[in-house]
Amino acid sequence: MTELSPYHEDQELDNNTSDNIHFRDILEQHISRRSLISKTASGAVALTLASTLTGCNSSDDNSTNNSTGTPTTPVDVNKKPEKLTFKTVSKNLNDIVTVPEGYQATVLYALGDSINPVYSEWDDNNIPSGPSFQFRSGDCHDGMHFFGLNASTQRFDESVSDRGLLVMNHEYINPTFLHPKGPTKVDGRRPEDEVIREVNAHGVSVVEIKKDKTTQKVEIVKSSIFNRRITGSTVMDFAGVAAGSTLLSTAYSPAGRQTRGTHNNCGNGHTPWGTYLTTEENFIGYFVRSATDDSLRRPEEIIALKRYGLKAGSSSRYGWETAKGGIESQDLYDRWNTDVKADLATKDYRNGPNTFGWMVEIDPFDGRQNPVKRTSLGRFAHEDSACRAIVGQQLAFYMGDDSRGEYIYKFVSDAKWDSKDINGGYAAGDKYMNAGKLYVAKFNNDGTGQWIELAFGKNGLNQSNSVYPFSSQADVVTFARLAADAVGATKMDRPEWCTVNPVNGEIYVTLTNNSNRGSSYPTDAANPRAYEDLYNNQKTQKGNVNGHIIRFRETGDVTTAESFKWDIYLFGAEASMASNINLSGLTDNNDLSSPDGMWFDPRGVLWIQTDDGAYTDVTNCMMLAALPGQIGDGTKATTSNGTETLVGKKVTDDTLRRFLTGPKECEITGIAMTPDYKAIFINVQHPGEDSKDYATPSSNWPATQTNPSNKTARPRSATVVITRKDGGVIAG
Ligand code: FEO
Ligand code: CA
Ligand code: CA
Repeated sequence: MTELSPYHEDQELDNNTSDNIHFRDILEQHISRRSLISKTASGAVALTLASTLTGCNSSDDNSTNNSTGTPTTPVDVNKKPEKLTFKTVSKNLNDIVTVPEGYQATVLYALGDSINPVYSEWDDNNIPSGPSFQFRSGDCHDGMHFFGLNASTQRFDESVSDRGLLVMNHEYINPTFLHPKGPTKVDGRRPEDEVIREVNAHGVSVVEIKKDKTTQKVEIVKSSIFNRRITGSTVMDFAGVAAGSTLLSTAYSPAGRQTRGTHNNCGNGHTPWGTYLTTEENFIGYFVRSATDDSLRRPEEIIALKRYGLKAGSSSRYGWETAKGGIESQDLYDRWNTDVKADLATKDYRNGPNTFGWMVEIDPFDGRQNPVKRTSLGRFAHEDSACRAIVGQQLAFYMGDDSRGEYIYKFVSDAKWDSKDINGGYAAGDKYMNAGKLYVAKFNNDGTGQWIELAFGKNGLNQSNSVYPFSSQADVVTFARLAADAVGATKMDRPEWCTVNPVNGEIYVTLTNNSNRGSSYPTDAANPRAYEDLYNNQKTQKGNVNGHIIRFRETGDVTTAESFKWDIYLFGAEASMASNINLSGLTDNNDLSSPDGMWFDPRGVLWIQTDDGAYTDVTNCMMLAALPGQIGDGTKATTSNGTETLVGKKVTDDTLRRFLTGPKECEITGIAMTPDYKAIFINVQHPGEDSKDYATPSSNWPATQTNPSNKTARPRSATVVITRKDGGVIAG
């Protein structure tokens, strides 16, 4: 293990820069394993943070055997493969996770599984108590990351593959299967045990795992002191520009310094210093607000509540506010009612919604301190975060706001990245995530774009703004959507996951779909498609039905750039669609719809996952592997609706192919990998989500993974680990 140090081109012995690909490959063999160094097209050398970074691999990684057992030419596993060679998984509707020949998928961690030896295993016929879920897997597994654990320091070590902390989100719940007989109400109230189970089934899991170096078998270390659940009730601190603002004042924390819980944690991120980032996405639906509440609010409060989706007369998704406190204090339930009830905001929960919708930092190696909501990164339906870290430059965090017509944001730290801060925990978070600039993206039709700063007093963000009267930077970040509206940001087709290409620093963002593109949102070059598709020969779907993946490159390749170039890497489509819809040339081996989860592994293999409702008449959701090129490798194109756009090079079977399909009615989401590339983790979310009731499940996964004929088991969200039967490198 070497420390990360700034890289200078002249340190390299091989100075042949005539072939950038070749040059990069050599670099990757010699650099610190903390980060990948890449030679960018502009000639600048960039250190690009890549999620689970390439590890100090055991010696057997450097040679592989062919099927006859004959030693072959040594292969560098840290190198981006030249083409994809695993056998494509076909589209299917089977109730099982299907992986390529020679690979195996094993269920690792399913809803209700215990992470403490004191608690029993999950039992479909004896659903565990609500409070016990503080020590059990939550529901609806989502974003995920693997942090290598150094056995001697007990801290983060990105070179370690055989021991680590798997950290994952539990986005929401499927109450049908979470409770003994589905969700209930008694005299208009949700039973407290059910509400506690639901609140605890949200949040984040930290689970220690170990991997056998020879067989690659992965197991949970149930007795680990690191195992931990963060739930919808866990106390959290605020930091950053809105911390202490009156906008965050509640009866729980009149000073606006704390709140309880995180929920609807969708995509994720991680920091270069070794902490986890979890994003609060569709948080607004957890609150109730009476029809009469507007009459007690100031005009600007009503504007803000409306913009975030909490109109007067809104009911809550799960009715947590109806529970009667017995096990827990009544206040813990009352907080979901946002009505103005008292003379001051410090005495009620009118500001409750303002305490959610943030980027939350969790140090998985430190169970003593509270997680921290990093307010300077803005408040919206946060989905995912990708950090670009270059030694000596300011950090850039790219973030999506997943709703139709919402925006893509970037936060740039004031502090420049110093690798000495690795393992710096929340103190490093304070250094890099509190002070900085928040930007929103504007995409021009000519393939250029701007980052517009969201700063109080700049770009018209002041008291006299016609959208909202901004009075401070706390106002700007808390109502970032309003600020972005005011500066004319580009309305996108539901920005989901973001990831940085370790090869060249380009940033990719999934735009999952938008049924209203072409109607309430006119098409533009960055969101160019609006068409119709027939689902199951019955239902016509409209708009950007199948989604796309946009990518952009910062001017000068620096994190602080205020402009960029973009094109569309990939358009989702059915293989049989017209060529002016299927603009990327997808075939049956790689056609996909509604890209959502997405992550570049440190080699530069892009993993794309789907959360789809448009092609599920033909196939269950899936994960694909891709080897993208770079911005500008394609052409201009015109869509079926006559909008001009810029599309990346058409894909082939060598550069995009289906790696996995999931069970019935699931989403595939969340991705993590051990640094030796020998185990990849994915989450199967909400299998059987369309089940009529708990007694008639439409999926029986994960039981079907080992017993395909099972027709009775409850469907449960779960983490799956995929390894090669020969113990080799995934997609190597
Ligand atoms: Fe939770 Fe945007 O998916
Ligand atoms: Ca169709
Ligand atoms: Ca998602």
